[in-house]
Amino acid sequence: MHVLLSGRFEAREGEAWLRTLRAAAPWCTWWPEGAAGLPRDAIRAAVVANPAPGALGALPNLGLVQSLWAGVEKLLADVSLPAEVPLARMVDPAMSTAMAETALWAVLSLQRGFFDYAALQAATQWQPRPQRRADEVTVLVLGLGAMGRAVAMRLAAQGYRVSAWRASAASAAAPAAVASHAGSAVLETLLPVHEVVVNLLPLTPATRGLLGARFFAAMPRGGAIVNLARGAHLVDDDLLRALDDGHLRRAVLDVFTTEPLPAAHRYWRHPQVTLLPHVAALTDLRSASGVVAHNLQALRDGAPIAHLVDRARGY
Ligand code: NAP
Ligand code: GLV
Repeated sequence: MHVLLSGRFEAREGEAWLRTLRAAAPWCTWWPEGAAGLPRDAIRAAVVANPAPGALGALPNLGLVQSLWAGVEKLLADVSLPAEVPLARMVDPAMSTAMAETALWAVLSLQRGFFDYAALQAATQWQPRPQRRADEVTVLVLGLGAMGRAVAMRLAAQGYRVSAWRASAASAAAPAAVASHAGSAVLETLLPVHEVVVNLLPLTPATRGLLGARFFAAMPRGGAIVNLARGAHLVDDDLLRALDDGHLRRAVLDVFTTEPLPAAHRYWRHPQVTLLPHVAALTDLRSASGVVAHNLQALRDGAPIAHLVDRARGY
């Protein structure tokens, strides 16, 4: 089976993927994008990491697009992606664990004031503050999918009072320690009673710009936002306004509308913003290659493909 590997990889990252994928699925003939002699007519599957728009066109035998990323909004926006070709996204427990670790770091640092102590150190100030308990902190996790579920469970296990919000009550059962809510109507009642909001929604027309002025105004004064999903969920000017006027205490941001975040952006120097360079949960090459191999085997054998994207829902 001929498989195309296409994407924007850091230096040497593409070679490492090719090496690992070849070892995980040795029955495939692997073709990096742009390789001499690439047999476009024979390519059966494409394994992709944010490929350039148009990269998936003119592949007449394509039977599967497997994303190495969990979020697929850019792929769905690529008109060269044939509508009839199944699209699978990356779902890997190692990635969910990494996301749970990042969320725990963010919420724990908010609870214990560790972000504030970092600023006090920079100002050479010795200033102990009152210590809060985890069970005094309410956290709302937006999204209860592969990432949100792992995050909600980890935070609940740490003693936080955790609720989660998702699209449909009919989705897979929520973890026992997490209060689960569904549907847009209930969100306005949840926001006033949760101090920290952790965003793990997919980027779709329904969720783009959701975290804006109205959302922040519904949160309690002194609340905090942790955005680990996509930059376009947030309305940046509205967030900056809510931070500047003191309504929100802090934002922890891993993802941005423009990445890398431009050097002139206010987030870089804002005293109430802690930022990461989109590293909340990187795809783990070792385990993700196994996920890819499993789906390629399923394609070869005519078995069900795992983690298919529902194109109508957008995730
Ligand atoms: P997922 O498994 O598809 O889960 C999506 C969750 O969001 C589901 O629980 C779904 O509800 C809920 N949802 C979707 N639309 C909704 C709406 N309109 N209202 C309320 N809930 C809605 O996604 P995932 O793999 O967990 O990924 C979550 C996010 O993390 C994505 O944005 C992804 O791009 C991002 N991500 C970021 C990083 C990083 O390093 N920063 C790494 C990986 C992923 P139902 O359960 O009812 O369907
Ligand atoms: C990272 O943001 C991903 O979607 O995998």
